[in-house]
Amino acid sequence: MSTAPHRPLKLVASPVSRLEGEVRAPGDKSISHRALMLGAIAVGETTIEGLLEGEDVLATAGALRLLGAECEMVGPGAWRVRGRGVGGFREPTDVLDMGNSGTAARLLSGLLATHAFTSFMTGDASMRSRPMMRVIEPLSRMGARFVARQGGRLPMAVTGAEIAMPIEYRLPVASAQVKSAILLAGLNTPGETTVIEPEATRDHTERMLTGFGATLRVEPRPDGARAIVIVGQPELRGGGHIVVPGDPSSAAFAAVAAAILPGSDVTIGNVGVNPTRAGLYLTLREMGADLTFLNERIMGGEPVADIRVRGARLRGIDVPADRAPSMIDEYPVLAVAAAAAEGTTRMLGVHELRAKESDRLASVAAGLAANGVRHDIGEDFLHVHGTAGAIPGGGLVATHIDHRIAMAFLVMGLAAKNPIAVDDASPIDTSFPGFVALMAGLGARIAAG
Ligand code: S3P
Repeated sequence: MSTAPHRPLKLVASPVSRLEGEVRAPGDKSISHRALMLGAIAVGETTIEGLLEGEDVLATAGALRLLGAECEMVGPGAWRVRGRGVGGFREPTDVLDMGNSGTAARLLSGLLATHAFTSFMTGDASMRSRPMMRVIEPLSRMGARFVARQGGRLPMAVTGAEIAMPIEYRLPVASAQVKSAILLAGLNTPGETTVIEPEATRDHTERMLTGFGATLRVEPRPDGARAIVIVGQPELRGGGHIVVPGDPSSAAFAAVAAAILPGSDVTIGNVGVNPTRAGLYLTLREMGADLTFLNERIMGGEPVADIRVRGARLRGIDVPADRAPSMIDEYPVLAVAAAAAEGTTRMLGVHELRAKESDRLASVAAGLAANGVRHDIGEDFLHVHGTAGAIPGGGLVATHIDHRIAMAFLVMGLAAKNPIAVDDASPIDTSFPGFVALMAGLGARIAAG
């Protein structure tokens, strides 16, 4: 959290010949945030199984408690939430600290925008540098008032509208966080609130809102966009049981590690494979990975599968810009697969990576450079020139308080010729507590450096 002194944790990953075994990915971060938030604004008690107990999700739970909802852990991954009904939050008596979590900060801003009291929100150093204007702008149109630091940065104060106004809003960036913030604000707004998304982004909010009994419809627009219309002021029904699938963004690290180490055979059980999230797996297959979805099923309204990956020779490909929303968090680890592949991988239309926990285009490029991998970087693209299985490694990578940079380069260290160190792996706990132990169980060598 932002007030605690920060102790960096240096880790080193050393080369291994192969990985083998079966593991389960931790709970999906996006779905975990939403399960707590919707539980907190529903009437009655919602139980959750498989919740991700990473720092990001715990920040959401802490904020919801300050807003008057009861959120308690009753066992590992098992939570009980007693909600306050739509519009039923009370004024928080302290600052809401969203830690490292953009999803927590953006989605909660949507809820606060229609509660007629003032809240103060902050986050860690990474979060305080990330753009909030993308939610401030539409939520202000609905009647909320914000006072933020220059450029729309946290800390900020938000005073929610007494009576919010429904809007129709076309997303200027492909962002599920912005879409969700508006839909959540639309819940406590009379009439119909409409979000138009030119490119499909993850649809967990829509799926879960429907599960809680909200009236929501998705209308295709003539230009290929989707309009998502939410009818305001429903009574959301608690009382349900939410099963959170494993996180495809976390599973990606073990999947790529297995894919680039010939002879590996790894199965990751229980992974969410919602098509709005599964772009990396499609891309790995196009690169020649031996990757199959087994036991495909529906769990809690979301498609789930066990993912089996066997090591193979990968080849570079072009990853089209329109695939970016479905794999936006996976580019750091895709860059690792690309570095191991033969030929060049061109990642296009990836400017949003600059607005993540760190400027991920810059962080990835610096990590590639530190480990002898040739690449070209632009405002909106990254081209990685593969080494055909001969990543030099030997570098020290700066993680910039970014969990996915830390995990991606630790994976690279397993498949390089020389060990790779990351300067601070502590942010891994935001999304993947137990990452090192899980990878070690597959045969990885990752240790304090
Ligand atoms: C998320 C959406 C994505 C993603 C983030 C989680 C969500 O952000 O990068 O990790 O849960 O809605 P954007 O919506 O800003 O692209």
